[in-house]
This record gives sequence, C-alpha cells and structure tokens, in this order.
Amino acid sequence: MNRVIRPVRSISGSVRVPADKSIAHRAAIVAAISTGQSRLIDFPNGADTLSTLHCLRQLGVESNWDGKTLIIQGRGLSGLRKPAGPLDCGNSGTTMRLLTGLLSAQTFDSELTGDESLLRRPMERVAAPLRLMGASILLVDGRAPIRIRGNGPLSPTTHRLGIPSAQVKTAIILAALTAPGPSMIMEPSPSRDHTERMLRLSIGEESGIRTITISPRDQIPASELRIPGDFSSAAFFIVGASIVPEADLIISGVGVNPTRTGLLEVLLDAGAAIECRNETGRAEPTADIRIQSSKLESLTVLPEIVPRLVDEVPVLAVAATQAHGESVFSGLGELRAKESDRIETTTQTLACLGGTVSADSNTMTVRGPTKLTGCAVQSYQDHRIAMAMAIAGLVAEGETTILAAESASVSYPGFWDDLDSVSLV
Ligand code: S3P
Repeated sequence: MNRVIRPVRSISGSVRVPADKSIAHRAAIVAAISTGQSRLIDFPNGADTLSTLHCLRQLGVESNWDGKTLIIQGRGLSGLRKPAGPLDCGNSGTTMRLLTGLLSAQTFDSELTGDESLLRRPMERVAAPLRLMGASILLVDGRAPIRIRGNGPLSPTTHRLGIPSAQVKTAIILAALTAPGPSMIMEPSPSRDHTERMLRLSIGEESGIRTITISPRDQIPASELRIPGDFSSAAFFIVGASIVPEADLIISGVGVNPTRTGLLEVLLDAGAAIECRNETGRAEPTADIRIQSSKLESLTVLPEIVPRLVDEVPVLAVAATQAHGESVFSGLGELRAKESDRIETTTQTLACLGGTVSADSNTMTVRGPTKLTGCAVQSYQDHRIAMAMAIAGLVAEGETTILAAESASVSYPGFWDDLDSVSLV
C-alpha cells in the first residue's frame, strides 16, 4: 500500500496515540509469569505487541482481549509450557530479545524466529550475557533463528552492559528472576527503565552508573496497569506540529518517562514550543503534550542522550531539515541495528526529498532550512521511516508518496487516519 501526503497549512486539534509498545511487551510477559489474573488496560494492537501475545499463547499463556483491555492468566514463574514449534516474533526485536532471556531459564527447549528484517538483526548481544549465566543458546552467524536448550534456572550474574540496550538489560533481568541469588546489572548510559519500574527493582547510582539489583522471587503478584500513550508514536506529531505553519496540537495521555523523552529536550533546546500539562505520577508518568509551530534553531544530539531518543532519530532528522543551521547527531551507531539501518535509510529518504544530509559510521549531519520536494520515497518496510517521511511530506512541495506505507502498523495501525484527522490543508 502506498500513501500520498500533501503539504498542510496546519496540524491542530487533539490526538491520542496508541499505548506504549515497550511497556506493553513487558507487561504481557511479566503478567504471563505472574500469579493470578492481570488486567492491562489500553493494550495496543500494533503487529509487534501482537507477536508477543502470539508467542505467549504458544507457551501456554491464556489471554483475552476485547480490543481495549487484555486479561492474562498468569502461569507463575515456572508454569510456561513447551511450545509445539518455533515461536514467530514477526518484525519485533523486543519480543525476540526479551523472550530469549525468559526462555533461557526454562526447563524445556525452544526456538525463536522472525521475519526477514528480524533475521538480519544482531542477537549475540543478548546471547553472550545469558551464556555467562549458564544459558545454552545457539545462533546462526550471530543471528536468529535462536535455539535455546532449557536447563532450568541460570546462575546469578554481575554484568556491565557494553551496549546501552534496554532489550538486553530486560532479557538479563527476566533470566535472573529465578536464579538462586541476587544479580546486578551496571548501566553506564541509562536506557528505558520500564522493566525496573514494573518489577519494582532496586536501583542505585554512583558516578553516573546505574546499578540494578534483581533479587530472586518465589512469585510475582498479578497486577492492573493502564498503559500510557507511546511517546515514540507521539514523536511524529510533536515534530509535525513543530514544523508546519499555524500548528496547535494536543496529544493526550502520553507516557513521559524521562528515559524516553530525549526528543523533547533536543527540540526545546532548539526553540520548540512544547508544553507538558496535567502530569500524573503513577507507575509511569503520563502527560498531555501541547505543541505549537516554532522557528527551530539547529539541533544537537550528543551520544549520551541517544539511548533516550534512539527510536526518534529519523523524525528528529526531519525536524533538522527545517531548522536553521547545521544539526549534528552523534553516537548513532546503534541505529544500524534497528528494523532497517536507520542511518542509511534516514539519509537516503531525506536526500530523495531534497534534504541536505550526510552521514558516516555513527554521525549524521543535516543542514537546514531546506524546502523539501515531494518524491516517491521508500519506507524500507521500516515503520518509523514510513511515519517520519510522512511528516516530511507535510512540509514538502507537491506530493510525497510513501511506498509500503502499511509498515506503520507494526507500531501504529491508525497512524494514517490520525494524521488525516489533525491535518488542515
Ligand atoms: C526497546 C528498546 C530499544 C528500542 C526498541 C524498543 C525496548 O532497543 O530501539 O524499539 O522496548 O526495550 P535497544 O534496547 O536494543 O536499544
């Protein structure tokens, strides 16, 4: 499916984005190994979170979803069942990496596979620390399919994360829950902390290094959780409303956990008009975000903030094409390991639209402001590239055609309708 985007005069009114994908994966997995019935309100229907549910069902976890609330019947920490065949994680790296952690401490063998993009992504990063805990994991050239031999609980670990990856961190946490002693994970560059919050893990901090302690559990109590809107989905509208003229938009009920909101800091430093209102402080902080159009100065993204905006770089680069001056994004190496090589795909797609962009191994430089011109732009089957380029299309002259636009449904099935509903031509 292709989508044609035309320039708009304004983005206005209000929009509600789907619930947070990162929180949803974790909440479903934690509910599966909890004792009792958990209720996850506003569970999102993106393909990635459905992949997690599908895998959990094959592991014997019963769930019921009415399109809004997901009810999961927990099987306890040692109640998962051997799946009948390979578990298909689809396009979802989070499903695959988190389940690798969980399954490596079970008493049965399992295999994880996925789509073409997922089979290209690096998995050694998750296998290596789990092997140090005694896991038996077989990869093919460092990639999936992942074959796991389940020999029961693993040994406790003390692990310093080399790559600032919340997926690797969570895999280790899940594997450590049944180890016969406490484990510690040291994190030099803090990444999203949803798992730590959900499991109420104890966190220390010294000289900028976070230490997470995981004590063994006999059981995890079932819980009720309302999942806030996904900041990474809101990011498309935040940038859109910042760069189109005459915009005034409210995105309601968005998760604003500080480990996710690096994009806000970068845009505010560049002069964006963004305000967070009605903050509520539950397990995960949530707010309504108001955005008005603004004149942006150049953007600066330093390596230390990248883990807090890692999924937002393509759309931030779109903002940089409209900002005044040279925007430099550094420390982007991890983007090469996403659904597509996002340094490459962001650079290629913006160049197609007439953006002035260059990149090397882990830096991207964008010169602005540039009058973009519509073209037929590849999405590379990457949901975030498809949506970022749709935002670029709002300020490009003429028509921008997003190819394979259906890829947006990996995280945001209603994106095209929501974009239409707030666009004024
Ligand atoms: C995620 C963590 C990030 C992010 C991904 C979701 C998560 O990946 O890019 O979309 O839910 O843990 P890394 O942890 O590998 O950086």
